[in-house]
Amino acid sequence: MKLELHHQNLRIHEQIQRKANRLPKQYCIQFPGTAGQYKILREDHVWICCFWTLYILQKIQSNLIAIFTLINNNQVMKNFRGYKQSKLPKSDETISQTDPGTSCGEYLRRYWHPVALTAEVSTTPLQIRILGEDLVIFKTTENKIGLVHKNCPHRRASLVYGKCEKKGIRCCYHGWLFAPDGEILETPGEDPNSKSAAKLRKTFKLGAYPVFEFNGLVFTYMGPPENTPEFPHYDAFDTPEITKRPYRIEYNCNWIQVLDAIMDPVHTSFLHVQSSGIQFSKGFAEVGELEFFERGVQYLGCNTRRVDDHVWVRVNELILPNFTQAGSAFAADGTKTRYFGRSSFTRWVVPVDDNHCIALAWGNFGERGDPIEYNSKEGCERIEAGEIMDRPWEERQLRPGDAEAVEGMGSITAHKGEHLMPTDYGIMIYRRRIRKLIKSLKEGKEPPQPQHKKGDIIKTNGQDTVLRIPKRNIDDRKFIKSVGSAVIKMQFNFENLPLKERDKSIINNLSEMEKSGLF
Ligand code: FES
Ligand SMILES: [Fe+2]
Repeated sequence: MKLELHHQNLRIHEQIQRKANRLPKQYCIQFPGTAGQYKILREDHVWICCFWTLYILQKIQSNLIAIFTLINNNQVMKNFRGYKQSKLPKSDETISQTDPGTSCGEYLRRYWHPVALTAEVSTTPLQIRILGEDLVIFKTTENKIGLVHKNCPHRRASLVYGKCEKKGIRCCYHGWLFAPDGEILETPGEDPNSKSAAKLRKTFKLGAYPVFEFNGLVFTYMGPPENTPEFPHYDAFDTPEITKRPYRIEYNCNWIQVLDAIMDPVHTSFLHVQSSGIQFSKGFAEVGELEFFERGVQYLGCNTRRVDDHVWVRVNELILPNFTQAGSAFAADGTKTRYFGRSSFTRWVVPVDDNHCIALAWGNFGERGDPIEYNSKEGCERIEAGEIMDRPWEERQLRPGDAEAVEGMGSITAHKGEHLMPTDYGIMIYRRRIRKLIKSLKEGKEPPQPQHKKGDIIKTNGQDTVLRIPKRNIDDRKFIKSVGSAVIKMQFNFENLPLKERDKSIINNLSEMEKSGLF
């Protein structure tokens, strides 16, 4: 017997599937995928039936051997799109390629970037790669730091084998001596009267970059010397009673993938709580109310959550091209009042090459930063990525942190295959701005520096604030969003005050807001 069932409705189709699953075991069932032609077969007979027939069949437990036959395969098969989507979409080369001569490489070469920890630089030369350039960083015996191209201009030996001296670094191969600014000081194997050697020493230099050592990080500027900008001074350099710990984290992926995460406040709820268990605190689990701000080259992602009787406003921050801050990782969990806590890190994401980047940063510890017990290498790794970096595969798979999330995309993600959603708005706007700045630079317009004018202290907004505001008899999601907006707008209002005064005013205002309940 053969039974056919027709319907055009997906919902009914699903109901039938459920019903069919409950048929007695002797029924062999196959499903169609089209708007529903089912056959139930028994020997040569055919029944054409509807949903209710199927229902009755099930009820009477007849001895029919029914087979639901897949009549129209095509519709079901169309759901499988592997073949059609097997070609990997392209990456966005404009923002992901940073080697010398690339457009983004040129753009990034207009800014100061950290390239090493001071602690890593010594009279033993260290090879590093930044923006696709192989470099050697070293310290002379007079404590002057040099950052030079890796290959000796004589016959290309690597200066990582060089010897550091009072005046510079000496190539191991034929003893040429280079000053930290690249000047060829000596070519000892050549005749002292050699005109060609004298000419070369006068007219040619080893490629070198200026360095600025600050608070445990070594910064450099790798752009055109005539455009050297002032070293930017962020307010985070001066937050009182903060202990700073320099750290570096290496990522095996493109810099944009790591940078994106700071403009992605939603991932904290999923990756850092729901997927991997609590990596920071339980309060992160709630997907809050989001608001994004674009203010010149400063981008803010404000996530406001309710945690019982408290409202927690957490602000992530990106200042183009690659300066990032957030709220704290461990100091706030949304359950205790906190006024204008500052970021747990002050960090730059620097391309090593197109497939690797480094986060060079300070972990910020103390009253306004993260608890002092996290002031360790592992503590900084957990603040940075939710987990320590050196873990067995099983653990990484079970509890992925930021490193797994961003490296898992591939060394350069297929940007053109992304499906950006409203929660990705922060990512969309900052990437768009970088593309615009790159285009303008190609047309001859230098990109803006983070400081508006020379000598400015750049006011940052990364922070977290927790206010005691029990639920009211109104739409709470709408309400907490208005709290977030009020907090951040108040912050902006005090932006032009001197640092200490600004902090004091913001903190006083938050306390007032909490007491008055006015937002
Ligand atoms: S290769 Fe460096 S001195 Fe000859
Ligand atoms: Fe994260």
